[in-house]
Amino acid sequence: MNDTLQTINALRSIHGNFSEKELSQEELNQILKASMKTANASARQSYAIIVLDDRKEMRELFGYQGSRALVYCVDFNRIGQTADRLGHAYDSENIIGFITGTTDTILAAQTAVIAAASLGIDSLITNGLHRNSLDNVYKSLNLPQTSCFPLITVVLGYADEEPASQKGRLSPEFIVHYGKYKLPDNSALDRIIAEYDDPQKHIGLSDAWEKQGFRHYLDWYYTKWEGLPPKEKKIDGKIKEFQDRLVKSGFWWPENNTKEYQY
Ligand SMILES: Cc1cc2nc3c(=O)[nH]c(=O)nc-3n(C[C@H](O)[C@H](O)[C@H](O)COP(=O)(O)O)c2cc1C
Repeated sequence: MNDTLQTINALRSIHGNFSEKELSQEELNQILKASMKTANASARQSYAIIVLDDRKEMRELFGYQGSRALVYCVDFNRIGQTADRLGHAYDSENIIGFITGTTDTILAAQTAVIAAASLGIDSLITNGLHRNSLDNVYKSLNLPQTSCFPLITVVLGYADEEPASQKGRLSPEFIVHYGKYKLPDNSALDRIIAEYDDPQKHIGLSDAWEKQGFRHYLDWYYTKWEGLPPKEKKIDGKIKEFQDRLVKSGFWWPENNTKEYQY
């Protein structure tokens, strides 16, 4: 296996907090540079990266802390403002722009993870920000109300302790479809369930499901991790908060709503 594949194969998330050891500015610069090297649609680099170094702030914002945190936001403000500056009309504020921008943003975040690992720096990808109030996140990070959405955070640092095991993944046969998509049949479903149950694979989030009396890991997952599905499908709670925020950001237009340009 070459060095790149070895680095990728050795990836593992650090779920607890990181040690007090700090990254150097040089290492951070290298990670950021690599991250921004990632492919991006229409050469827009439709993201902003907010670098945090205050551990208390990190903990308050998304529940973890490390030497640095990179908050990756989908962001069309820069490209919109340059249009404005040059006297052009420009609009990527819609669901298509959001999906494309999200793609740029996530790819850049994962590249940061790989670059960090190549330097011996550990990481955690977390959507902890989304468990916070989004209004609070926008306020704390001074995010523009429109054309910007905080997508994902990469926490960087050095592991306090090694995870008990490296997480496995489902076999490619369940994920990769050659030529055409194929829904799994019952036999494949049973094999997927068995892979989650396999104590050697560590695919699931917890190994404690058996001790808690569950027959399968996925029984634990659907009841304990996901909780009961709501009786009525309603737009409330976090779903409403996200939808409202996407409307506010301009990425989602409610029906019959015309939009005004505002950079
Ligand atoms: C979108 C996303 C959000 C995640 N959020 C969290 C999180 O909030 N807390 C956490 O401990 N791990 C989080 N993770 C890490 C996953 O739990 C982890 O990638 C998965 O269990 C597989 O483990 P591995 O990365 O060590 O292979 C997140 C990963 C992704 C991609």
